[in-house]
Amino acid sequence: MSELKDRQNITVLAIESSCDETAAAVVRNGRQVLSNVIASQIEIHRRFGGVVPEIASRNHLLSVESVVDEALKKAGVTKDGIDAIAVTYGAGLLGALLVGVSYAKALAYSWQKPLYAVSHVEGHIAANYLESDLEPPYLCMLCSGGHTAVLSVEDYIHSTLIASTRDDAAGEAFDKVARVLSLPYPGGPEIEKLAKEGKPSIEFPHPKFKGRELYFSYSGLKTAVINYVHNALQRGEEIGRADLASSFQEAAIYQMSTVATLAQKRTGLDKVAIAGGVSANKRLREVFDEIFTPLGVKVYYPKLCYCTDNAAMIGGACYFMIKKGIKQADMSLDAKANVKLG
Ligand code: KG4
Ligand code: ZN
Repeated sequence: MSELKDRQNITVLAIESSCDETAAAVVRNGRQVLSNVIASQIEIHRRFGGVVPEIASRNHLLSVESVVDEALKKAGVTKDGIDAIAVTYGAGLLGALLVGVSYAKALAYSWQKPLYAVSHVEGHIAANYLESDLEPPYLCMLCSGGHTAVLSVEDYIHSTLIASTRDDAAGEAFDKVARVLSLPYPGGPEIEKLAKEGKPSIEFPHPKFKGRELYFSYSGLKTAVINYVHNALQRGEEIGRADLASSFQEAAIYQMSTVATLAQKRTGLDKVAIAGGVSANKRLREVFDEIFTPLGVKVYYPKLCYCTDNAAMIGGACYFMIKKGIKQADMSLDAKANVKLG
């Protein structure tokens, strides 16, 4: 039998449970999604205003088996049609990750299939390959609830970190500002919706890049929004919620577009991709298009369903790991709360 990486078709069953979505998918050759099933816990966590780790783990346990079964059924494949099993091992909530990792290990062992440990961040980047023709090299603006970074993606498995956040991630800032505005969790889509009704009339601070170091900082922006709201309340003034949402969104996106523009100039890369939950934001996409298209730089973003957490992106990333000869994981695989970027 030929080596796995040399096969013409490689079909991966992927499992993702790093936060509040229990997800499984079947992906062929890194780009073709045969099924993508997500059991979201958003409704459960919403009343707490954010993800409660212990509750997330318990719900992953309840859903993982049926989600995997449904993914196989929807894809129309059985275990014999699966060449490898991929699982997110980090970064994320330890207890939540452990459910996916344990289930994937048990499945790989009983089915006698190779197991691959995929980084959640690598998955977000690989979401750009799903049902798309993007090929490295390119610049990737990663913006999720846990990470905000710009990476130079050299090939399907190697990337170099160019800039990352010094404090909060962009998605985290969207969620916190939404909370201040009494909007439900997750805050990103809510802010986007409200911002459409307002104007970016309030000036919020941006990091100033004096030296060569590029970075993000969302904690100052978040504090500025909170102070703005408190000051208005103390003065008994009405807050223009839509204008505030729009002003915050513009400031958050301005950071991303500024750092991405400087990084693109330095690297000379002619393709820019956006990845992670915040990449679902239409205004962010619009701004990147407005900036890069006139420069002759092509902009890529994942389909909306592959922006936020899903398992198809993990199955996609796994394919490229197999093709590049990355070693498979063994039964000692453990979950990791943090994984190095780049
Ligand atoms: O990638 P993701 O699903 O999970 C992490 O890996 O963190 O990203 C979730 C984050 C949340 O902070 C959520 O508010 C944000 O992505 N998000 C958005 C939008 N949709 C999701 N932020 C801004 N605009 C959106 N449309
Ligand atoms: Zn994510």
